[in-house]
Amino acid sequence: MSSRITIEKIEELAKRRGFFWQSSEIYGGFGGFYDYGHLGFLLKSKFENAWRKFFLSLDDMFYEISPAVIMPEQVFQASGHLKSFQDPLCKCKKCGNIERADHIIENALKESFEGKTPKELTELIRKHNIRCPKCGGEFGEVGELNMMFPLNIGADSETKAYLRPETAQGAYVNFKRMFEILRKKLPLGLAIIGKAYRNEISPRQLLIRTREFSQAELQIFFDPEKINEHPRWEDVADYQLRLTTAKDRKKIIEMTCEDVNKKIGLPKFYVYYMAKIQQFYFNVMKIPKELFRFKELSEEEKAFYNKYHWDIELNLASLGGFKEIAGIHYRTDHDLSGHQNLSKEKMSVSIDGKKIIPHVIELSFGVDRNIYALLELAYSEERDQIILKFPRNLSPVDVAIFPLVKKDGMPEKAREVQNMLKQNFVVFYDESGSIGRRYAREDERGTAFAVTIDSQTMQDDTVTLRDRDTTVQIRVPVKELSKTINKLMHYEIDFRKAGKVVYEP
Ligand code: GAP
Repeated sequence: MSSRITIEKIEELAKRRGFFWQSSEIYGGFGGFYDYGHLGFLLKSKFENAWRKFFLSLDDMFYEISPAVIMPEQVFQASGHLKSFQDPLCKCKKCGNIERADHIIENALKESFEGKTPKELTELIRKHNIRCPKCGGEFGEVGELNMMFPLNIGADSETKAYLRPETAQGAYVNFKRMFEILRKKLPLGLAIIGKAYRNEISPRQLLIRTREFSQAELQIFFDPEKINEHPRWEDVADYQLRLTTAKDRKKIIEMTCEDVNKKIGLPKFYVYYMAKIQQFYFNVMKIPKELFRFKELSEEEKAFYNKYHWDIELNLASLGGFKEIAGIHYRTDHDLSGHQNLSKEKMSVSIDGKKIIPHVIELSFGVDRNIYALLELAYSEERDQIILKFPRNLSPVDVAIFPLVKKDGMPEKAREVQNMLKQNFVVFYDESGSIGRRYAREDERGTAFAVTIDSQTMQDDTVTLRDRDTTVQIRVPVKELSKTINKLMHYEIDFRKAGKVVYEP
């Protein structure tokens, strides 16, 4: 088997082991929609919880809320989505196939054309004679499609609404109330983890471009006069960020936060959160440094609501290079002012004796894209099989529990250990098949550790604890098992030092 990672390999494993697959499969599948199975759900929950723990603990004033997914038309009138949230599309004159114009050009010319106008895209299609991939026919003029899903609500279907295309608007429409409840302080962070919907013209690459996806977003409302300060700036001033600028896309540079502030001119409040995002990817997601970068978007590529817009990208071999998985956006007062103008509700607040409309820095993560990235980066072919080497803290199942044989009291003892560990960990019990096959199955599911109950357990109340990535086994007393696994999970001790080594491959 070739060791090159491909989308097909990820899809095969994801379906066979219970991570994800196309929705409504029994009816032939539903393009752009995915269902998560039990392991996919556990992985997604682990990611979301790690995200929560990391980002909500950055400030006492950061909270999570859970607004409605369907919002009335006025929200998207005010936010600008009704007018500006468009994708360019082109239709084949011969077979009627519709494609996203910038993607079809990107595929042909191997360059990004995001943000070009329909007229520019039409010219590119004509100049390079780009034809329909289905029938070779000629494309018509490039047009535009609003990406939101419209809905008509109520018995008379009279109320126009939309499925939210981003979680963010839920934070803006609730800002004023939350500000008042939370004692009128800035900065104030409102996080939302939940579904977003976009009528993508060409959903593709499994979880990367879908019509229903999850986002984890944090809207940080702050006083715009304080944009070039952060109370904890000194913690990150010397920290090096990995960047590629709009001027030179070929190079990744490393620059301290201080230099990004001084030389690139990004404000401290923004750069501080760039540093935190990079630390999340390095320290929690365990992403190798060389696979990570911030990418500056050019004027024409930036989202319509952003003044500064940098994407967070990971180099994913199965997708042929760096791919956007998150973004950090300076949205100014675009949204709050938009809602104030249309709703006539005042969005201004009194802070330090002055009245201001707060500005917003948004940290926006695509959960499903991160799940895809975790799967690809964990995927390894070794020992004649697939092993998913997830970071231990993000593994879907923490511990598998195996009685060595189905007799001599071992299953009963294993159940006892299972009951003890399930108070703190996601555990899985298995007594079927040889112990080698059970280890191999769990390695393929990415289970971080395996505990085996053997004849020695019945004498001295110790078990073997096996590390998925190295297969090293140590002997640990049952009474210390929870504490030991907890430390290992957070990489606080070296595996070989956590007990007596009884097996080295
Ligand atoms: N609130 C800002 C916002 O929504 P965005 O760049 O449009 O910004 C944020 O989306 C993130 O959501 C992206 O970086 C990506 O990870 C994810 N995302 C966007 N569209 C997606 C899609 N069609 N399928 C899966 N994930 C998507």
